[in-house]
Amino acid sequence: MAIKQTKRARAQSVGDVFSEVRRAPRHVIPTDEMDPEVAYQIVHDQLMLDGNARLNLATFVGTWLEPQARRLMDETFDKNMINKDEYPQTAEMEMHCVDMISRLWNAPDPNEAPGCSTTGSSEAAMLGGLAMKRLWQERRRAAGKSTDKPNIVFGINVQVCWEKFARYWDVEPREVPMEGNRFHIDPEQAAALCDENTIGVIGILGSTYDGSYEPIEKICAALDELQARTGLDIPVHVDAASGGFVAPFLEPDLRWDFRQDRVVSINASGHKYGLVAPGVGWIIWRDEDHLPEDLIFKVNYLGDIMPTFALNFSRPGAQVVAQYYNFIRLGMDGYRRVQQYARDVAQDLAREIDAMGPFACITHGEDLPVFAFKVRDDVTNFNVFDVSNALRERGWQVPAYTFPANRQDLAVCRIVVKRGFTHDVAGLFLGDLQRQLPRLLRQSGSLHDADNGSSFRH
Ligand SMILES: Cc1ncc(COP(=O)(O)O)c(C=O)c1O
Repeated sequence: MAIKQTKRARAQSVGDVFSEVRRAPRHVIPTDEMDPEVAYQIVHDQLMLDGNARLNLATFVGTWLEPQARRLMDETFDKNMINKDEYPQTAEMEMHCVDMISRLWNAPDPNEAPGCSTTGSSEAAMLGGLAMKRLWQERRRAAGKSTDKPNIVFGINVQVCWEKFARYWDVEPREVPMEGNRFHIDPEQAAALCDENTIGVIGILGSTYDGSYEPIEKICAALDELQARTGLDIPVHVDAASGGFVAPFLEPDLRWDFRQDRVVSINASGHKYGLVAPGVGWIIWRDEDHLPEDLIFKVNYLGDIMPTFALNFSRPGAQVVAQYYNFIRLGMDGYRRVQQYARDVAQDLAREIDAMGPFACITHGEDLPVFAFKVRDDVTNFNVFDVSNALRERGWQVPAYTFPANRQDLAVCRIVVKRGFTHDVAGLFLGDLQRQLPRLLRQSGSLHDADNGSSFRH
């Protein structure tokens, strides 16, 4: 939900669009009806100023779908995911997806691993965090100890959903800062921040800042060592928002998932590298022991009782249908092909940008098909915010931002390569960047900064 701006100075109308309607109201529901074609045209025209989603290299969220997936979404946009008894097939597809994903992430007994769809990774993160908090409370109460001061440990690079989780559910966030060329968590430092009040450690498979995978295996090893030393048994939740649908296909031997005994739950966004349009995420727990019974609500399902765990009630079913379509349509081979292609494009583009001269990539698409680049320290004519603005002139949306502690000195642009961003489109992007360079190099100094540059960041 965007917060409404209340500035009086905002325009009161969109002006003359059609002779039938002199002004389309913006702030008051009109008294009279309007012809649907006219209303459509007015809304359509207002949307022209939105960015072109295919040129959005900022978002991790899918911007291209196969026509068949779109068709299925059109056919199912009116199905409410919560009405399990009215739409039993959609509910079945959700469970098929949960089964498939549990196997993909190597749950010890995939038939016993509970899970569900969500609106995205943020909701999934809330559910994963809540389950860890509740289990910690139960353990503490059973031991006759206080539950006043829960904390959660993560790298400072976490996506904002974890800061939200901590704030909304009264859990103290303990953040491991970046240092030097380490742009994500340090396992030993994470373990050192844990104590008897730690509900869990979050590992990120695919950091939003630079696309790098956090070393989940090493985080678990550091916590094993902590347990051997102190007896503290700290669970790990993996936020695999992007990597959950990349690593299993491109690095099947990377042991980031339930193959680590300490990993109790994993989330991912179906609408990122799961290749669906915005509106679906997934969470899977290792087994029923890690999903506290009292967080589950029962809804009626075909005269039977179906357990649900969600923050929302009503939610569209179309994205779940499209997820199931993608799984059966692409299979393991298809997902591997699509993600490998995205990674090839990312790595080629990173190489080309590195070779241009003024830029230096800090990641090269070696993990997620995502990389970040900075302006070399000896280039003083312009900065990454100028680059982002220059690219915007041709419609490309490339975020520029500074890193958090202890690398606030570092500012980068980041490129997220997704399905639909082909080698050919990457060539067009590169051409535009090259065309902007002479002008940027003629500047006597940078013109934009984090406050007045482009503001899209995710
Ligand atoms: C690591 C990570 N976690 C969580 C999220 C939030 O995901 P969603 O947009 O699906 O809620 C993102 C989004 O970019 C992310 O990169």
